[in-house]
Amino acid sequence: MPQTPVKVTVTGAAGQIGYALLFRIASGQLLGQGVPVRLSLLEIPQAVKAAEGTAMELDDCAFPLLAGIDISDDPNVAFEGANVGLLVGARPRTKGMERGDLLEANGGIFGPQGKAINDHAADDVRVLVVGNPANTNALIAQAHAPDVPAARFTAMTRLDHNRALSQLAGKLQVPVADIKKMTIWGNHSATQYPDLYHAEVGGKVAAEQVDDAWLRDTFIPTVAKRGAAIIEARGASSAASAANAAIDHVHDWINGTPQGDWTSAAVPSDGSYGVPEGLISSFPVVSKGGAWEIVQGLDIDPFSRERIDASVAELADEREAVSRLGLL
Ligand code: NAD
Ligand code: LMR
Repeated sequence: MPQTPVKVTVTGAAGQIGYALLFRIASGQLLGQGVPVRLSLLEIPQAVKAAEGTAMELDDCAFPLLAGIDISDDPNVAFEGANVGLLVGARPRTKGMERGDLLEANGGIFGPQGKAINDHAADDVRVLVVGNPANTNALIAQAHAPDVPAARFTAMTRLDHNRALSQLAGKLQVPVADIKKMTIWGNHSATQYPDLYHAEVGGKVAAEQVDDAWLRDTFIPTVAKRGAAIIEARGASSAASAANAAIDHVHDWINGTPQGDWTSAAVPSDGSYGVPEGLISSFPVVSKGGAWEIVQGLDIDPFSRERIDASVAELADEREAVSRLGLL
C-alpha cells in the first residue's frame, strides 16, 4: 500500500444504499485510484449479521485498494479515526409517509452519531448525511460535534442535481456533459428549487432554451418529486442513484470540482443569498483545497427568489421543530 489508508465509516451499511455504495468505495471510486481505503461499517445490532455478509462479499472482490473492514454496532467504535463519514442509516420514507414524520423518528440517531464523530473521528473528518431528512439530520449531527468545524457537516443534494442534469439533457437532446452550472437550492425535499436561470448549455442560459411552461410545470416538479416517483415505482427509495451521488459528492469535496463548473451540495449557510446563517441548505458550490465554497455574486430573479425562500422556510421550520424536540 502506497500510503496510510483513508478510513471511511458508513452507517446503515447493510441497507440498500450501503449495498450499492460499499463496493464502489472499495474499488477506488470515492477517493480516487491509488488511495487505499479502510471501511468501517456501522449497523444496528439486528443488522450486523447482514453487514458481515456484505463484508464477506467485499473480501471476495479482492479489491487491491481495500485495506480492511471493521463492523460495529457502536458509533464510538465505528467512527474511531474516521476521515470520511457517510451517514446513510436512517428510516427510509415509505408510501404515504410525509417527510415531517421522519424528523422525530430519525433525530435520535444523528445526535449520538454526531457526538461519536466529535469524540473519536480524525481531525480532518468530512461528513455527508444521506439519511433523510438529510439537511436537518446533518444539522443535528453537527450540533453534537462542537469540536469539529461546522463546515465539515454536509447533506446530499447531488442526487437532485444529477436528476436535474438528466432531465434537461433529455429535453434538449444534448449530452449531460454539455450542461454546466446546474444548481439545486434549499432542502432535499419536494420544495427544492432546481435552477435553470444560471445553468448553461453550450455556453447559453438553459432557461432560454426551454419554454417557461416546461420549466415551471414539468422540469421543477419532475426533479423535486423524483424521489417519491421512484418509491412509487420501485416500492423502495432510490438506492443505486443515491449511492452514485454520494460518491460524486465526496469525490469532488476531496479532489475538487472541475474548472468552469460548479455543483450542488447542502452546506452550512454563511448568510449567502439571504439563507439564514447555520441552516444546512443546498447552494451552488465549488470545492477548492478540500473545502466547499458557496459560489458568490449570482443575480437571483424574482421567480427564483420566491422558490428559494419557500424551500429555506421549510428548512427553518425543520430546525425549529428539532430544536423544540431538544435535538439541537
Ligand atoms: P434501508 O432501510 O435499506 O437501510 C437503512 C439501514 O440503516 C438499515 O440497514 C438499518 O438497519 C440501518 N440503520 C438504522 N438505524 C441505524 C443506526 N442508528 N445506526 C446505523 N445503522 C442504522 O434504507 P436505504 O434505502 O439504504 O436509505 C437510507 C436513507 O437514505 C433513508 O433515510 C433514505 O430516505 C435516504 N435517502 C436519501 C437520499 C438523498 O438524496 N439524500 C436519496 C435516497 C435515499
Ligand atoms: C430520494 O430523493 O430518492 C429520496 O430522498 C426519497 C426518500 O424520501 O427516501
